[in-house]
Amino acid sequence: MKKFFYLAAAFLAAACAGKPQEFHVIPMPADVSINEGSFSLKGTSISIDDQLDEASLGAVLRFVDALETASGAQLRLVEDGALRFIVNPNLAAEQYAINVTKEHADVEASALNGFVYACETLKQMLPAAIYGNVKAKGPWVLPCVSILDQPRFGYRGVMLDAARHFWSVEETKKVIDAMAAFKMNRLHWHLTDDQGWRIEIKAYPKLTEVGAWRAGTQIGKDQSQWDDVRYGGFYTQDELRDVVAYAAERGITIIPEIDLPGHMVAALSAYPELGCTGGPYEVRKIWGIALDILCAGNEEIYTFIDKVFDEVTDIFPSEYVHVGGDECFGGRRHKMDPVPWDNCPKCKALMRKLHIKPGLQARHLVQDYVTRRVQKILADKGRKIIGWDEILEGNLEPGATVMSWRGTAGGEKAVAKGMNAIMSPNKYLYIDYYQSPEFDKEPMCIGSRVLPVEKVYGYEPMNGMPEGAEDYILGVQCNLWTEYIGTNEGLEYMLLPRMCAAAEIGWVEADAKDYARFDASLDHSFEIFDAMGVNYCLDCRGLIGLDRVPARDSLELAEYLAERDQ
Ligand code: ACM
Ligand code: ZN
Repeated sequence: MKKFFYLAAAFLAAACAGKPQEFHVIPMPADVSINEGSFSLKGTSISIDDQLDEASLGAVLRFVDALETASGAQLRLVEDGALRFIVNPNLAAEQYAINVTKEHADVEASALNGFVYACETLKQMLPAAIYGNVKAKGPWVLPCVSILDQPRFGYRGVMLDAARHFWSVEETKKVIDAMAAFKMNRLHWHLTDDQGWRIEIKAYPKLTEVGAWRAGTQIGKDQSQWDDVRYGGFYTQDELRDVVAYAAERGITIIPEIDLPGHMVAALSAYPELGCTGGPYEVRKIWGIALDILCAGNEEIYTFIDKVFDEVTDIFPSEYVHVGGDECFGGRRHKMDPVPWDNCPKCKALMRKLHIKPGLQARHLVQDYVTRRVQKILADKGRKIIGWDEILEGNLEPGATVMSWRGTAGGEKAVAKGMNAIMSPNKYLYIDYYQSPEFDKEPMCIGSRVLPVEKVYGYEPMNGMPEGAEDYILGVQCNLWTEYIGTNEGLEYMLLPRMCAAAEIGWVEADAKDYARFDASLDHSFEIFDAMGVNYCLDCRGLIGLDRVPARDSLELAEYLAERDQ
């Protein structure tokens, strides 16, 4: 319904003004009405409510700085300016209002996130040069507009895998800048995996001395081939705190992930006594899933986890800590083949103690035991856990939040159990998949799925959910795994513009989504990316050339087309 309102408003205003009105803000604000006329920001007078807290003031001053640089004109700070930033305690923390007339531009919010989003909306209404560092022509005018805006979901995330490839602090901040521009508010930072441990832990120095470095890296998609180039890196605690603060200033909470009890080979290489066999282990050079996992029956792993999370929670103030839980039992040829826990005296003793009968379900119940212990360790530190949807395969009670990645079933099951869920179904939100079926023209990606921006946009988190799910679905997240991404340009290319589509899913009400409107705004986003100096996929519309070049995996492609066209 709302989209007709937007179009009608834009059309009406355009007719009144006698020229086309353009409004290309992504994500589309909840309520917008565009009026006749405009307001010039260049060198205008500005007043800032002295009730603004320090963080909100910082956000406003960053906007002012960007405007002054781009327009080449200083703003004049006065008692009652034409551009006014006002604290309005009646607005929710993530809500803001913008009212622009020919005489005034009023910006109201009650807290940091509202001011951050208001400033980002202002920037998107201006020429994209405001995202750059040089003076530009403008025009530095806002359309006369009334906006009252707030997000549909409180959790709008991006997951960045820093384990398979390591991203510098500078590059991570670039990702954060891109997130902030599109009002994303959670960075889920995947800091540990089989191929590298990236977070300095002072109690366990070998995690980074040994675990942060691998002796080589898989070449292409062939698991039997790797180079012999030592690869790695890690973030010091000072660097991590710096990134946490940088993100927080932009309204973004960082949720660290320590993936356990699987995906732990880098840690096992440093401390082999934490594994069932005692090793030796080697930081993994190839992708895929490792067989080796933490020894659930060894009390030492719980001390290790406790001490690691002591430091993790000291660095990251987030309400949630992600504890992984995915793919603990992979790495085997057949599902029935044993996992390390099946043959380990300590794990077998644990199963006897817990009265867990041998069989396939036993491993899920042991994982459940590990998850509950970790949940308790973190609860004692005042934190809640998020886990990948495998944590539901035992008998986990409500309290944990489930991240649904193997489709949407995990989210549906969580909701049915009265547990919170974050939706990141791989088919729609795994932005490490190809963006177009022309695989030969794309950088190498994982698997052979095709996930163009339009398909990301088409995801509706409430589809298939049981009644009352609104109370449990916290939001959405796109995941950027980096096995096949080794350069900053590659990382940005995979992220953008698909992250913008994820941002709309998280922000805009279902009935206000409109791919044609979104698509029409993408060109402005491309100008923004250019001004920010970030790479992106220009040919992201996905089906370009589809009828000319056959895809390699026709099954995947047929599946994609059937879904797309239904
Ligand atoms: C995952 O993609 N293994 C969570
Ligand atoms: Zn064991």
